[in-house]
Amino acid sequence: MKGKFITFEGCEGVGKSRQIKLLQEYLDKHGISYYLTREPGGSLISEKIRNIILDSENKKMTDACEALLYAAARVQLLDEILKEKLDNGELVICDRYVDSSLAYQGYARGLGVDFVSKINAYALENFLPDYTVFLNLSPKDAFKRKGGADKGDRLEQSGIDFHNKVYNGYLELAKSDKERYIVIDASGTKEETHNKIIEELEKRHVI
Ligand code: TYD
Repeated sequence: MKGKFITFEGCEGVGKSRQIKLLQEYLDKHGISYYLTREPGGSLISEKIRNIILDSENKKMTDACEALLYAAARVQLLDEILKEKLDNGELVICDRYVDSSLAYQGYARGLGVDFVSKINAYALENFLPDYTVFLNLSPKDAFKRKGGADKGDRLEQSGIDFHNKVYNGYLELAKSDKERYIVIDASGTKEETHNKIIEELEKRHVI
């Protein structure tokens, strides 16, 4: 893994997609090359797995099945695409990654960090991100700003309790890995948040 591997994390509605878009524009403007992908998904097979996971008709899906599908989609993306990119020294940016599994499946669904770490050992041992940008905004504030949850998305329909568990999970993860986690206060304007992200990535010589 020669290239830098940066992931973005946060609860629903914190403006993660918007921030990744702004970062993309910044990198393009400054002629910095990168490979941008997302999880779950990022490859044909992983996108198919994504559709199964997020399908609101799959109400019978068990928590363990869900966790294993995320892990499967992840391994496929790593082996099929990201391994080569990183070996070639490329900057790889991923919208969500293994910390989403730890926060959502481990903490919020209650499967436990041990179980989720075990099924994600391949990613954790071989492809741990150099830095994880965590957009810090509580679910209450995020939903307020966004104006409610998306109807078609099975996960966004989970209640506020679930999202609070996700949020607290992230805070625990950030506390336990201060070197890797870049915690960004996302309560300000999108420009303010963007500037903070750029500043932190520059400070660490990522860009
Ligand atoms: P998406 O629509 O991409 O949400 P967002 O814009 O918030 O990233 O859906 C991804 C959903 O999958 C999101 O609710 C978080 C969840 N997720 C997990 O629960 N575990 C995981 O390992 C990953 C990668 C995502």
